[in-house]
Amino acid sequence: MTVTGSGVTHDVTDIALTPEGLRRIEWAEREMPVLRSIRERFATERPLAGIRVGACLHVTTETANLMRTLQAGGADVALAASNPLSTQDDVAAALVSEYGIPVHARRGEDRDTYYRHLSSVADTHPTLTMDDGCDLVSLLHQDRAAQVKEVLAGTEETTTGVIRLRAMAADGALGYPVIAVNEAQTKHLFDNRYGTGQSTLDGILRATNLLIAGRNVVIAGYGWVGRGIASRMAGHGGHVAIIEIDPIRALEALMDGFQVMTAGEAAAWGDLFVTATGNVNVFRREHFEAMKDGAVMANSGHFDAELDLAALRQMAEGHVREVRENVQEFDIGGKRLHLIAEGRLVNLGAAEGHPAAVMDMSFANQALAAEYVAKHHAELDRRVYGVPPAIDAEVARLKLAAFGVNVEPMTAEQAEYVASWKHGT
Ligand code: ADE
Repeated sequence: MTVTGSGVTHDVTDIALTPEGLRRIEWAEREMPVLRSIRERFATERPLAGIRVGACLHVTTETANLMRTLQAGGADVALAASNPLSTQDDVAAALVSEYGIPVHARRGEDRDTYYRHLSSVADTHPTLTMDDGCDLVSLLHQDRAAQVKEVLAGTEETTTGVIRLRAMAADGALGYPVIAVNEAQTKHLFDNRYGTGQSTLDGILRATNLLIAGRNVVIAGYGWVGRGIASRMAGHGGHVAIIEIDPIRALEALMDGFQVMTAGEAAAWGDLFVTATGNVNVFRREHFEAMKDGAVMANSGHFDAELDLAALRQMAEGHVREVRENVQEFDIGGKRLHLIAEGRLVNLGAAEGHPAAVMDMSFANQALAAEYVAKHHAELDRRVYGVPPAIDAEVARLKLAAFGVNVEPMTAEQAEYVASWKHGT
């Protein structure tokens, strides 16, 4: 932990990276008109005055603009990374020295440092937690139970985090209400699909410079993330196969024009494998054994658990080398398998995460959800809530307005027609 002359507690890689971080935060801000309009309103209304936000989010240019928004709303904010490999060190530096926000995050930090950084945020005694993956909520509930009652409410950004929170609520273990921001339509229909679709491709291309056209691309998982990746891979000329355990999603993938295979069938067929399931060990020893020489693997799910990395390491018996930045080669008996970004979130580990224009909506939901719980926490139970539909609609309305797009209004006759059960043929 370091404390600067200005008194901001932090642990970042290099504070001298501030000017570059600042430039990039400002660049992202241009693509975030919805969040900007919320920030301007927050600066006059100060709806978060007196709130201490403990945030565990990817430390990116987009997150920096969310932190500025919460700060403008009157909140005290402290930030740790939600993934050891996603931190943009220049952004972390700028948040500390330009915006006075305590940041505890270094790209490439080890597991102990990751949890020490989370602890530093917990030390600020947050009254509102803002998570991407539920790690801060978990830490408070498992290691700092006495602090849980200090928290008025939380928000959660991602599918994996919402699944963990629902499990906590089902166990009766959740100590305060949490808004599942991921469930806003203006979040998952855009961020999970278009954001992850584009940025996953971006991460794979930056890391490998592979030509997708003509390649066999295997995508595990056909949720919103998998759908986004599949359509973009197909758009680049890849032959796409989907692995899915849910028969309805598998059928949807088939009718969307993709092949559907089991992992066992896909292993020997694929050139590029991307996981987006939220589950563990989707590809494991038997699949690695069947894969072609030169196969490339990447994970787009929240945790680095989707590929059985322990088995991969064991099979390589120490024959592992970095062949390009963010690409490790595992030599298993003369066959080379390639892993991007250590099996961590490829879009943030090897690229910059979702583009700002899509995070604009996700983080507008975060900011408005924070405002909502600041006002309404006393009326909420200790469970997981969706984003109020009025907030979702407001985010869509603001985004359309930023695009200069008008939405067709209903005529009085149409309103009467849809409200009536008497009209027929
Ligand atoms: N999650 C995915 N992309 C992100 C980004 N650019 N910033 C913060 N969180 C993200």
